[in-house]
Amino acid sequence: MGFRVTRIDVSGANLRNFRPDLYKYGSKQYNALIGRLKRARCRATLHVVDERGRPGTISARVRDIPLATLQHVLIPGATQHSHVRPSDLAAAEQILRHNPEMARRFRSSRVQPIDWATLPFDLNASKVMFVQIVSVGKDGSVDWGAQTIENGLFPFQDFALSPAANILHYGQGGFEGMKAFRQANGDIVIFRPYENAQRMQRGAKRLVMPPIPEDRFMEAIKAAVLAQPELIPPAGSGAALYIRPFLFGSGPVLGVKPASEYTFAVFVSPVGPYFKAGFQPTSLRVETKYHRSGPGLTGDIKADGNYVVGLMAAKEAKAAGFGEILWLDAACENVEEAGAANFFCVVDNEIYTSMLTGTILPGITRDSIIQLAREFGYTVHDDAKLPLARVLQAQEAFCTGTAAVISPIGSIEHDGTKTAFFGGSEDVPENSVTSRLYKALLAIQEGRWEDSVLRGLSSQFIDRVKREWIYVLNTAG
Ligand SMILES: Cc1ncc(COP(=O)(O)O)c(C=O)c1O
Repeated sequence: MGFRVTRIDVSGANLRNFRPDLYKYGSKQYNALIGRLKRARCRATLHVVDERGRPGTISARVRDIPLATLQHVLIPGATQHSHVRPSDLAAAEQILRHNPEMARRFRSSRVQPIDWATLPFDLNASKVMFVQIVSVGKDGSVDWGAQTIENGLFPFQDFALSPAANILHYGQGGFEGMKAFRQANGDIVIFRPYENAQRMQRGAKRLVMPPIPEDRFMEAIKAAVLAQPELIPPAGSGAALYIRPFLFGSGPVLGVKPASEYTFAVFVSPVGPYFKAGFQPTSLRVETKYHRSGPGLTGDIKADGNYVVGLMAAKEAKAAGFGEILWLDAACENVEEAGAANFFCVVDNEIYTSMLTGTILPGITRDSIIQLAREFGYTVHDDAKLPLARVLQAQEAFCTGTAAVISPIGSIEHDGTKTAFFGGSEDVPENSVTSRLYKALLAIQEGRWEDSVLRGLSSQFIDRVKREWIYVLNTAG
């Protein structure tokens, strides 16, 4: 029977305990290593695809795995050493070829069906993640190592991290978020991933980390998504596959300075529909005590540190019964963002959002909504600051981001006065600007090109969107 080995795990191994000793093992100590693994009840699992293309696993004894392969298997992502290589997989295929008894232990995997409609919008763990270690020399030279995309895929697992890793003390880290969809024609696509790649590069430079080259970023997210196609929801389910690339200083430091080693990783999480109980508005509170950013800070990139500074404000607002916070600029005059999303409002059928002042994250959904609204014929004001006073006169308000696409805002509380939008209705009216833009952007992401919600967009616009916004990972069939 012919098997292709795609991955090797040693289940239950406490990777950190074995790691420091691994390179001390020569063949003489091999038996001792096997003994330790056995005592820890570790089993080796070969993830395979059989000749009929069925994925499955073959249970093997740790003893059956060659030492060199075992060393690579036991080294987790966060290390400078190499990982499971194509030659390790080939070696495992050889073992199977010469050991028909092991091959008979093939168990075809029964993929647990996921209930997409009830799946929470939460971490519904990845089985696989991509990990790449990058070293930076004293002269600033970046060493990408010999790692290929193929051997950068690992089981979703904890990192082995130095207690002095920069990220743990000085917060050198940033991340991205995007979504993959299965479109109506079956294609697996990602929405505007090049924009995320570029935003992550800008963020890396600002945080003195090596920017991940665009092609490597794309290859890594592609590998992480296509390694687990069963996690990509069916078309029209309202669910999506959230993709989380991130980069952090994993090298140890004591004084405040950039790390000399960085970890770039990508995991995915299938997420259910954001609005399970319909497109329902949230209530916001204007925040005047805390700020999420300020001139010269990092509000315009996705730095890890930006999010922790907002936690207390969010906690207090939630305790007081609000859904989110409306962030103001340092002068407490202009509206910047809503929670971790960009803010929009509609005044007399014209759309307003703050200009990108350097303290606001340039959201990819924000940019898509601006382009879409203009194409629908709306006037969009995005070239000036957005005074709170104007927002409190609006008829509609919403915020935009990858997670929800659009979240309608039902009310904003400021200085004890509540301003309601959508005529104070509990539901967002079908004929509102907010609802129209939400449905149109969702239809674009899901590839429902014939949907009536896209009526009013020119064929040139749709063609450009298909070309520039929709990155096809894998065509159907
Ligand atoms: C602070 C902040 N603003 C805005 C956004 C929306 O950006 P995007 O539309 O690219 O998801 C996000 C989410 O990524 C965010 O974290």
